[in-house]
Amino acid sequence: MARYLVTGGAGFIGSHLVDHLVEAGHEVVVLDNLSTGARFNLPPQVDLVQGDIAEFENLPALIARVNGCFHLAAIASVQQYQEGWAKAAKVNFYGSVRVLEAAARANVPVVYASSAAIYGNNPLQPLIETTMSRPISGYGVDKLAMEHHAEALKTTIGLRATGLRFFNVYGPRQVPGSPYSGVISIFLNRLAAGQPITVFGDGEQARDFVYVSDVAGALMRAMSWTAAGNCGVFNICRGEAITLNDLIRVLAGVLECAPEIRYEESRAGDIRISLGSSVAAAERLGFTGNVALEEGLRYTADWARKSSQ
Ligand SMILES: NC(=O)c1ccc[n+]([C@@H]2O[C@H](COP(=O)([O-])OP(=O)(O)OC[C@H]3O[C@@H](n4cnc5c(N)ncnc54)[C@H](O)[C@@H]3O)[C@@H](O)[C@H]2O)c1
Repeated sequence: MARYLVTGGAGFIGSHLVDHLVEAGHEVVVLDNLSTGARFNLPPQVDLVQGDIAEFENLPALIARVNGCFHLAAIASVQQYQEGWAKAAKVNFYGSVRVLEAAARANVPVVYASSAAIYGNNPLQPLIETTMSRPISGYGVDKLAMEHHAEALKTTIGLRATGLRFFNVYGPRQVPGSPYSGVISIFLNRLAAGQPITVFGDGEQARDFVYVSDVAGALMRAMSWTAAGNCGVFNICRGEAITLNDLIRVLAGVLECAPEIRYEESRAGDIRISLGSSVAAAERLGFTGNVALEEGLRYTADWARKSSQ
């Protein structure tokens, strides 16, 4: 049994990871400011320290007491940079550097959440880890900066760190109420309520969706790999992209409804096609995205139905 810190553990992906860690018999401490996360996402035995990664003074002491740190806390939204660039960067850039530095100094392995946003609108698809990064959003820039800091801290202080470039993660507990949330949770919520769906752009933008429990499994695999002295950066995706128009058709089939779609102008920082290759993660971490899209959508729709009752 080990003791792990999960920053952002009360959020969507973090809380699924916490469930997996607890189920495997590990002790878990969560550091979260509950800006988008919630206590009710966490099992009762998990310690929640409420604090901000950019400000929490005892962060080094907290990290020094664990066997590994999963760093997921972030303002997980491209659009929020449009509303407050420096405010978002304070968390995603400065806060992340604080976490990485504390882990490096305490010799604690870290697995951190990077993003497919680091690739920007790169036309070379499928994206592999060595594809040139060209972020077109502040969010993507700060995720890429985190990867560079992890690498530099490895060289200078010996940090063991692995970054996972998540593509579009979906599943239960993704908050549908926020305009910053994942597209599947927003569409599901609106379709289930019989409301029209707004699509920004022509709907032909494509995404590589990966189910949240597969992502939690990838995080755990990456921790074992990193604790054993390895470092790296991996795509976490299924290697299959679907357009938003097709996604809506599949969702409508799952929910057995006829969607009304409204098209609006595309948003700044939106990426046209995001298709990853998961070959490296499969070979090095043993990761596979087992849950097929339609199956994952059914699980998510079931959860949404139950949680609205
Ligand atoms: N969901 C996706 O499709 C996706 C894709 C790529 C990368 N990611 C990354 O994965 C991670 C988790 O994302 P998520 O989808 O679960 O989002 P989320 O918003 O549900 O989770 C983020 C968590 O971090 C917490 N948090 C935010 N700012 C904080 C701060 N300053 N200090 C402490 N805690 C703070 C929030 O309260 C929340 O619990 C993020 O780093 C995100 O950038 C997510």
